[in-house]
Amino acid sequence: MNSIEQLELEGTSLEKVLLLVYKLTGISMGVNKKTLIQGRLRPRIRKLGLGSYDNYLDYLSNNKEEIQEFINLVTTNETSFFRTQRVWEYFTKDFLPNWWLVNPKKTLKIWSGASSSGEEVYTIGICCEEFRNKNPGFSYQIYGTDISSDVVAVAEKAEYAGRSIELFKTTNRPLFDKYMQPHGEGFKVHPDVKLKIRFGLHNLFSIPRERNFYDIVFLRNVLIYFEPPDIEKVLSNISKGLVFSGTLIIGESESLSSLKTPFKYKQALVYENGENHHGS
Ligand SMILES: C[S@@+](CC[C@H](N)C(=O)[O-])C[C@H]1O[C@@H](n2cnc3c(N)ncnc32)[C@H](O)[C@@H]1O
Repeated sequence: MNSIEQLELEGTSLEKVLLLVYKLTGISMGVNKKTLIQGRLRPRIRKLGLGSYDNYLDYLSNNKEEIQEFINLVTTNETSFFRTQRVWEYFTKDFLPNWWLVNPKKTLKIWSGASSSGEEVYTIGICCEEFRNKNPGFSYQIYGTDISSDVVAVAEKAEYAGRSIELFKTTNRPLFDKYMQPHGEGFKVHPDVKLKIRFGLHNLFSIPRERNFYDIVFLRNVLIYFEPPDIEKVLSNISKGLVFSGTLIIGESESLSSLKTPFKYKQALVYENGENHHGS
């Protein structure tokens, strides 16, 4: 018998795998993603001793706990601290001061809806801590969610090394030294930043538990994986979690133009929630 390394994922097995990815995550993958999927699934199939993709598909339908494992394998979790400089320029120089001016007595509620391993959330936290130092009385809370339990676990540990901290370390050393503490071979996030942050599992295709709640949602570099009608579904859910005229931030290679969504364009990467879900 051939080992899983020698077997190609093709034909109906490939179609079934791609359909399952779509059903579970909303991620649309064409057959051109065959090599990627194969590379992600092979080590798991080998570890389980299943010998073929069809055996693994059977295993998935008989072992519900394997579904989360499958989701963890097929999602792409690339991220880094201070990814896309202009987002952080906007957040620190425009969003935070303006929000605080209008809402001096409120707690700013932030949601990162595809937070991956936490780098984006801790970047938000560092910006908020810096703002709080200059504006005593400012308070905030951040919720980071992702569909992958593996990355949520990494985010909760708040320990980083390698590529995802490189940009932060080289471009803003004073801030890096202030908030990243040496830890083993790498660094861990300062406990003060962790205090206002929590993480959880959430699929963007589900309606958020908190309605009409968040002032700003970061939804960056995840819409690229979805087809337009599915982006519309996700954004309708996001809108329900946001307060009326709350802010949505998307990724650099994403755009909402030509989609039917509750969001109004404000400036590059920044949108405003035009729907009021109060009482819904
Ligand atoms: C490329 S990362 C983006 C991380 C971060 N927002 C950034 O911009 O650096 C995309 C994340 O979206 C998550 N994701 C994919 N489909 C999802 C879904 N249906 N619901 C929630 N998260 C999802 C993946 O698990 C992955 O961690």
